Amino acid sequence: MRRRPFAEDPELISLRAQLADANERIRVLESERTATATRDPATQLLTRGAFREAAERELARTRRSGSPATLFVVDLDGFRELNAAHGSEAGDRALAAVAAQLREVTRTSDIVGRTGPDELAVLLPDTALPGGTLCAGRLVDRLDKAELTALGPVTVSAGVAEHRRGHSLEALLSRASVSLDRARRAGGARVDDGVLHAGPGDEESFHNPHADVIEALAVTLLERDRYTGEHSESVVAMARSVARGLGMPSSDIERVGAAALLHDIGKVAIPDHILNKPAKLDPQEWELMREHPVIGERILRAIPGMGTVARIVRHEHESFDGSGYPDGLSGDAIPLGSRIILACDTYHAMTSDRPYRARMPHADAIHELARCAGTQFDPRVTEALIGVLHGLRQSGSPLVA
Ligand SMILES: [Fe+2]
Ligand SMILES: [Fe+2]
Repeated sequence: MRRRPFAEDPELISLRAQLADANERIRVLESERTATATRDPATQLLTRGAFREAAERELARTRRSGSPATLFVVDLDGFRELNAAHGSEAGDRALAAVAAQLREVTRTSDIVGRTGPDELAVLLPDTALPGGTLCAGRLVDRLDKAELTALGPVTVSAGVAEHRRGHSLEALLSRASVSLDRARRAGGARVDDGVLHAGPGDEESFHNPHADVIEALAVTLLERDRYTGEHSESVVAMARSVARGLGMPSSDIERVGAAALLHDIGKVAIPDHILNKPAKLDPQEWELMREHPVIGERILRAIPGMGTVARIVRHEHESFDGSGYPDGLSGDAIPLGSRIILACDTYHAMTSDRPYRARMPHADAIHELARCAGTQFDPRVTEALIGVLHGLRQSGSPLVA
């Protein structure tokens, strides 16, 4: 008898079908599992981690295309009181109701996530600041009018920020939360438009007519030296938080932020073989490297209105005890902004992998900061920074991963 060709064997056909079936079931189960891992169960919005991942991807695209992007954060007014009075399920229900309204006012291309216990965030691709403010305003209006839950009225506050070229997601989120703070302080149930106004107590507001120049310089640094560019972006978020923690007025916080972003701009003038050397520098190379704060100051002095920022940059490597460079200043003679940047810069450098050494664990870096408080660092600044780092770690920030 002629043997049937192998492929037609009915047993084999049935086995293949079963295998295909099993594979399909595995695929469905896996996709369900990843879907639940990226969705917050209470609101069905992206989880914090999934939101950050999607937003980072979108910002990378924005960087390449040069198109705008705007982010807003939404916070439930009186969330804590609601939870205290009616339990946490009531809080979750109110949040779910807000999330449902948020879906109504956003597009499918918008990235919407739950970024905190009572905080939602939306990244709007291809949208400038006014568009983002309008969208957040629609949400606030809807909630103002609608009877959402049996709990009575639910209102929200929102803060808006437009993405700036060369800035990180971290910087964007921190600017939006500064704006949210203003909306809350103004009584809630409103959107702050994300434009920085000088508060009372700000003697002089920092309206820099050269924001574009600052951004262009930041991008130049990023192109020249990827590590230093990205390092500077991370230092901005920390330095601003420390400045806020020390109670500096908002105009000064802006200056510290600009100085942090550009503190290493002088490195554009350092030769490649020194900048990218995969080993420790020899004394001669060090001498050249140590010029970067002075070169940075010179570059920034050329921009009118940037004198204070330039001075902060010049002194970013001065030690509290006077052993730093370029001028050997000590204590209060060093601009506060420079003292803040030095501590944030050192923490970030210690916890980053470099070609010639591995990163230090977070706990060891904290220990090192504390050990050098009073010698290298201003003790007050160190204390504020350790507080900020603790908060960032608690909120799962990648800055302190
Ligand atoms: Fe530096
Ligand atoms: Fe630095």
